[in-house]
Amino acid sequence: MKRMMAAAVAGLVSLGLSTGAVLAQAFPSKPITLVVPFAPGGPTDIVARVIAARMGETLGQTVVVDNVAGAAGTIGAAKVARSAKDGYTLLMGPMSTMSFSPALYPESGFDPIKDFEPVGLVASAPILLVASKKAPVTTIAELKDQAKTQGFANGNAGVGSTSHLACLLLNQKLGINPLMAAYRGSGPAIQDLVSGQVHYICDQVTSLTSHVAGGTVTPIAIMASTRSPALPNVPTAAEVGVQGVDMLVWNGVFAPKGTPADVIDKLNDAIVKGLDRPESQERFKSLSAEAPVGDARKPAALGKMLAADVEKWGGLIKAAGIKVNP
Ligand code: MLT
Repeated sequence: MKRMMAAAVAGLVSLGLSTGAVLAQAFPSKPITLVVPFAPGGPTDIVARVIAARMGETLGQTVVVDNVAGAAGTIGAAKVARSAKDGYTLLMGPMSTMSFSPALYPESGFDPIKDFEPVGLVASAPILLVASKKAPVTTIAELKDQAKTQGFANGNAGVGSTSHLACLLLNQKLGINPLMAAYRGSGPAIQDLVSGQVHYICDQVTSLTSHVAGGTVTPIAIMASTRSPALPNVPTAAEVGVQGVDMLVWNGVFAPKGTPADVIDKLNDAIVKGLDRPESQERFKSLSAEAPVGDARKPAALGKMLAADVEKWGGLIKAAGIKVNP
């Protein structure tokens, strides 16, 4: 098969087409892997599975989700950065891995800007603060009191994940110092929240709406400027007296630097068509995630957002003295 492909490429190249253009025409001729750098069941995984299915329909090839978890997504991201630049290995990059890691994981082995081509933004979502049903709290005031007196544990998706930084920010504002329990992703952290091993989590609303609907966790506040349409009864943090903790988290697809532009265009087109599908829109609505529209779906828009966030979060992380091994 490989030999037949090589012969076909050589034939077309001899007709005057560049190798890159020929490869792009044939793309994709086999399944594509979309690496999720966190455990299953978390927001990155949930968003990746929605778009992978839809991209596969447009591209005529399966897009396989592969969870490569560890070190707040940097292990999976480094793996994709080192992969062939042919469009067959992609990264579902969350804001945390792509924007926090230069400041938190300087030895990660990849540079989010120099080593990746942005392909397209898929969704953004605010952070929701939720408590375990086993923690007898329903408000921020109760959480603050109980965390001080009962020695609460705060779960997160790993040191340097969004759930880690979002709750660090909140804990500082509330003046509480809980035990910080790091997992390989929000999925396992939420499992332990439901069973009561940890008392509260600040995670993207995407991974929590089904738990809130199922009554397995208690929603406390949404860390955003407005309430979430899917959770209209949950107050914003500012409404309950906590300012300056809002965080909107994005998830976008990235390819290794040097992937041909025509291949990036095909992949971006598959994302855009996937986002336009009513099934995706319904799913994102039910998850309380926001899908981009218009030019915000172009690769350049994702690149611009990444560059701005690397700078913004790098500054905030240094100013707050946040370190992976304090
Ligand atoms: C996940 O489990 O997907 C993480 O929470 C992603 C993140 O840090 O944003």
